[in-house]
Amino acid sequence: MLSGTGRTLDNLLAACRDGTLPARIVLVIASRPCRGAEIARAAGIETLVIPGVIPASELERILRQRDIAWVALAGYLHWVDIPPAYRGRVVNIHPALLPRFGGRGMYGLRVHQAVLQAGETVSGCTVHLCDEIYDHGPIVLQQSCPVLPDDTPRSLAQRVFELERRAYPQALRQLILGQTGPDTPSSTGSQPALAGESGTSPP
Ligand code: GRF
Repeated sequence: MLSGTGRTLDNLLAACRDGTLPARIVLVIASRPCRGAEIARAAGIETLVIPGVIPASELERILRQRDIAWVALAGYLHWVDIPPAYRGRVVNIHPALLPRFGGRGMYGLRVHQAVLQAGETVSGCTVHLCDEIYDHGPIVLQQSCPVLPDDTPRSLAQRVFELERRAYPQALRQLILGQTGPDTPSSTGSQPALAGESGTSPP
């Protein structure tokens, strides 16, 4: 699910191609027409543009219809009304070290601005399972990088995104292979894959 540039989608597509991520992306939901949606369509991925908050029942219908097992947020700027069946199956990446510098309205350069204003010397990224609170839920993986004295929000954003390129595929891989997470495939007995790899069952 995305709303913007599609850098994260691009990265996940590359990770699926090179085998780092044992998954197939079968659907992209964009909250508005954006470059991410264009990238998805160009890659031959079914793409739905759905503005606003998607009711949980509707989201569940969309996901189940396509046998989707995992949902990866990739710069999605809307609230996700998580269907009960997909609790522990919606994953997000945030460009800071949660629990700090997260929450409603904390996205894009605002996050890095806040980190710089607070005088932090370390920042990073966090991959977490989503729950009913913005940027909240069990942490799957965190990676950190230095904040340099002459950093601007943009330079810091770039450094953090370089971390994200490795961290997101790695965390999703762990989840899919059942090596981490509170509701892992090993504990449910199913073999889910990101966005419905064929032959897998939805939760
Ligand atoms: C990244 O900073 C990520 O941490 C956040 O959204 C940004 C990616 O958006 N969740 P995009 O792929 O550049 O649209």
